[in-house]
Amino acid sequence: MSHAPASEPLQEHSLDPDDWDAFRAQAHRMVDAAVDKMARNREGRVWNPFPAEMKAGFQAPLPTAGIGAEAAQAQMEALLPYGVGNTHPRFFGWVHGSGTPGNLIAEIAAAAINANLGGRDHGAMYVEKQVVNWCRELFEFPDTASGIIVSGTSTATIIALKAARDRCFDFTSRKRGMQQSELGQLVGYTSAQTHSCVARAFDILGLGSDALRKIPVNARFEIDTVALQAAIAADRAAGLTPFAIIGTAGAVNVGAIDDLEALADIAAAEKLWFHIDGAFGAFGILSERLRPRLTGIKRADSLAFDFHKWLHVNYDAGFVLMRSEEVHRYTFSERPEYLKGAERGLAAGNPWPVEYGPELSRGFRALKIWAQLAEHGTEKLGSLITQNCEQAAYLSELVTAHAHMEVMAPVAMNICCFRHTAPGLEPAAVDALNDEIVIRLQLEGVAAPSTTIVNGRNAIRVNITNHRTTRADLALLVQEVHRIAQDVLAGQASTAS
Ligand SMILES: Cc1ncc(COP(=O)(O)O)c(C=O)c1O
Repeated sequence: MSHAPASEPLQEHSLDPDDWDAFRAQAHRMVDAAVDKMARNREGRVWNPFPAEMKAGFQAPLPTAGIGAEAAQAQMEALLPYGVGNTHPRFFGWVHGSGTPGNLIAEIAAAAINANLGGRDHGAMYVEKQVVNWCRELFEFPDTASGIIVSGTSTATIIALKAARDRCFDFTSRKRGMQQSELGQLVGYTSAQTHSCVARAFDILGLGSDALRKIPVNARFEIDTVALQAAIAADRAAGLTPFAIIGTAGAVNVGAIDDLEALADIAAAEKLWFHIDGAFGAFGILSERLRPRLTGIKRADSLAFDFHKWLHVNYDAGFVLMRSEEVHRYTFSERPEYLKGAERGLAAGNPWPVEYGPELSRGFRALKIWAQLAEHGTEKLGSLITQNCEQAAYLSELVTAHAHMEVMAPVAMNICCFRHTAPGLEPAAVDALNDEIVIRLQLEGVAAPSTTIVNGRNAIRVNITNHRTTRADLALLVQEVHRIAQDVLAGQASTAS
């Protein structure tokens, strides 16, 4: 028997609260604050600029001793009114989805599970597999197609175009790079209206953004397929190696939809990879109004799109769908000894998502996507897409009927680009007027459209991927655009006199 003195009990710590009841009350307060924010989404200003004192609050030095749960929560709650404004019905800028209250609950459940979806055999993986299966079904891809959830279309595009690139090299490029190949310079083709993430993917993949040919568009802002074929022939004649065509289902500036069937035909005839950027427009497949123009999607080799845009899943949630699971896996699979799979136990459930993309650690984005589809179903989500398209057409009618405004591009989907006119002003002054109108709409909290350039002229760009928008919001927008234009023009006149 030992007579050694009893040692002091070892003090061990964790990050869990000491008082779970107090934590529960604190969590309920945050849920209440979040639900209150959601319930008041239609009220008040669209965008609240972040106050200077709050900016200063986020410049505090790195805390060595924590400020505690209460103080941290107070700072988080204070943040709630200061989003970009995309939960408000008059947020029309860029392409932002508007989120749903239901996703709040999914995010709480995902945080509680705290799963890592790089791989392994656990419940969250089966949720993601279900989302992949649903996407396959929705876009009529074969049963052998694969897919992966990512942050957004920019990342999805990199994954898709890496597969297109590596397939050209029979995957030797994964080890040897592209220099030691006889293929020479690879070139790809897209419309001049395509989002910049495609050129960025060319840059990131070492192809160089100049290797992306920007083909001119027709009067509807769709890729000119005759010019496309001529460009491919010219590049082949010059000894270059065409490898991919990138079509767009909903171009970012005006919402144009390329002739996807024609692009699929050209890609097949030329033996090129056919990728589609469907960031927001791909979900038009759920809308009776848009579906006939999107039949070409099912012929793509890869499709990139976002759930956080027209499906209103909370940020962030993108996806890449690949026709060939094999090509997809050959492009990314890497299973070192410490990531070895197994038939049984936690290392089962192969192949793992890490074999389909660059990320090993991956959060549980799948749950909020699954929850949105499960709660609302494709019929309702599709009817809201149709509603947004009808609203964009309605806005275009309001603008056309207005004596001092004009529509600048046909409304193909959910985007209406227009401007306030000012007879007698130089074109550059009219451009400046429209930029000023947009800034004032945002600063006054009335609405938040963004700007773009259409046929060389500045436009007020209204994108409606917003299930809260009503026609009354659009009528108010038109009224306010005119009011601000009159104010600006009156101000200029008084300064000049
Ligand atoms: C047509 C189009 N493609 C690509 C993107 C980039 O998507 P993400 O911001 O999800 O990376 C956008 C974003 O608005 C877009 O509208």
